[in-house]
Amino acid sequence: MTGEIRWGIVGPGRIAESVMPDFGVTPDARPVAVASRSQQRADAFAERHGLERAHGSYASIVEDPDVDVLYLATPHPQHHAIAMAALRAGKALLVEKSFTATTAGATEVVDLARETGTFVMEAMWTRFQPAVVAMRELIADGAIGEVRSVQADLGVAREYDPADRLFALELGGGALLDLGVYVVSFAQMLLGTPDRVVATGSLFPSGADAEAAILLGYDDGRNAALTTSLRYALPGAARVVGTTGWIDVLPRFHHPRTIVLHRTGAEPEEITRPQTGAGYAHELIEVTECLRAGRTESAVMPLADTLAVQDVLGQAAEQLGVRHTEAVGVL
Ligand SMILES: NC(=O)c1ccc[n+]([C@@H]2O[C@H](COP(=O)([O-])OP(=O)(O)OC[C@H]3O[C@@H](n4cnc5c(N)ncnc54)[C@H](OP(=O)(O)O)[C@@H]3O)[C@@H](O)[C@H]2O)c1
Repeated sequence: MTGEIRWGIVGPGRIAESVMPDFGVTPDARPVAVASRSQQRADAFAERHGLERAHGSYASIVEDPDVDVLYLATPHPQHHAIAMAALRAGKALLVEKSFTATTAGATEVVDLARETGTFVMEAMWTRFQPAVVAMRELIADGAIGEVRSVQADLGVAREYDPADRLFALELGGGALLDLGVYVVSFAQMLLGTPDRVVATGSLFPSGADAEAAILLGYDDGRNAALTTSLRYALPGAARVVGTTGWIDVLPRFHHPRTIVLHRTGAEPEEITRPQTGAGYAHELIEVTECLRAGRTESAVMPLADTLAVQDVLGQAAEQLGVRHTEAVGVL
């Protein structure tokens, strides 16, 4: 694709609202359309953000010939059906985390993306944060030796409301898919796909998970200890431990500004890398650049990693007794 990349927004909820200003600092990206289940909500969003077209159904934006890429910002179980329809219509996709509600759903989307040669990326914005990029460069340069262990936590105290998507099982509710995806993706980025997953935790009355501790094990002894919760707040800290030091990723690690490098025998070194915009611009830049370069996936957030993360989340959910399903009749 050449020239400006034309974006369509699907699901004008909280995150879509937060991401919109970052299009303004993303070169060659132009948001042109929005789709809601309600024409009224689509019209209001389009007016607020100066978009050219407002679609009163998801099916309608999928068929819009003047949109190159869709940003899916609905609850997780709705991603699968919209993504499948969009890929069949030849639309590239940026899909909010969690990519889908189930591993089977994620696999179907990735298979169709590969079959059709269409670009798809999970909106795991953490991987594109400048401080995380700096951390990965330090690790690649051997600053802390071999990475052996990752610790990360992310939790918020939210009052139980079974109607809210965070707690409603049919909307993919629970800590795992909303926040656990960040700790799992962070560990997977640094250690690769684990050989074992052990999870323990508790559920809300809706059957969605309220809190979880997840241990990732690797056959060579490396490990990750991860915690997530919707029942209580957690600092949002991460620590990457190597054989000759460690790196603290200061809260909140899923969109950090500062990391602290602790090399064995040296004074700690603080490294700060501010975000552009609210921090979403970096993933928008990645998608825009990939599309202009004709790539079908991102090297920073590859589809294999998305599948590996979804599989860990699925295993953890199963061990906790949580049953997620993909939504049907979405379009
Ligand atoms: N990257 C981040 O920092 C970040 C932050 C928050 C959330 N997220 C992710 O973004 C996605 C959306 O989260 P959100 O907090 O923005 O959710 P939200 O405020 O509830 O908005 C979701 C939107 O999806 C649409 N939708 C479609 N089917 C729906 C259904 N059955 N029930 C409710 N809404 C439905 C609704 O728009 P219409 O009905 O108007 O079409 C709604 O406004 C989730 O996957 C979440 O994990 C990412």
